[in-house]
Amino acid sequence: MTPETRAPRDRENDDPEEQIRPLPRALLALALAGGLWGGWYLTRSESGVSPMLGDQRTVAAFAAPPANAAVDGAQVFTGKCAGCHQASGLGLPGVFPPLAKSPWVSGSEERLLAILLHGIQGPIEVLGSTYNGMMPAWNTLSDAELAAVSTYVRNAFGNTGSAITVSEVATARAATAARTSPWAGGEELERVP
Ligand code: HEC
Repeated sequence: MTPETRAPRDRENDDPEEQIRPLPRALLALALAGGLWGGWYLTRSESGVSPMLGDQRTVAAFAAPPANAAVDGAQVFTGKCAGCHQASGLGLPGVFPPLAKSPWVSGSEERLLAILLHGIQGPIEVLGSTYNGMMPAWNTLSDAELAAVSTYVRNAFGNTGSAITVSEVATARAATAARTSPWAGGEELERVP
């Protein structure tokens, strides 16, 4: 059938119909109730600090701590070590060796600093299990940070070891400065005094 043969009515557009219909009263009531409740909630809730007083932090609060501020060893441990050795210091069996009760941690200070300054890549026996992973070097940490974290691990997780001072870290750093690769494992580390 060609357009000309269609009934004239079929060629007309549809009758216009009203597009905007009144909002259902129930929905209107619901929106109104929501708005009222929100206002009530805002006036009732207490943040503890009056927003009228604004942000009370001072510029000093955002400044970096002074260079001579005491470093928190526990904080360094959480940030740099706990990801592998776990917050408990127990490590992950077969993957990350424990620091708890490890003679590498609470024994020779020089050995512990040697490990921290250069890392390990090779087999190392810890409490009867052999690990063969990759311990990163932490020579980018400052002497104060290394002193703090090594003293921390020597006295956390039930360990009892002497504190390591900043100057001991400086000495160990200078003594092994020529080293460019990680220690090849426990055997090589045994030879560190
Ligand atoms: C990326 C994972 C990882 C991080 C992070 C890490 N270690 Fe290790 N660490 C290892 C692995 C793996 C070994 C064992 C190396 C091997 O098998 O050759 C190890 C070995 C050690 C050892 C000697 C073995 C033992 O368990 O006593 C000490 C000590 C140690 N890490 C201390 C630390 C300290 C302190 C930090 C933080 C400054 C740290 N590690 C961060 C993975 C890590």
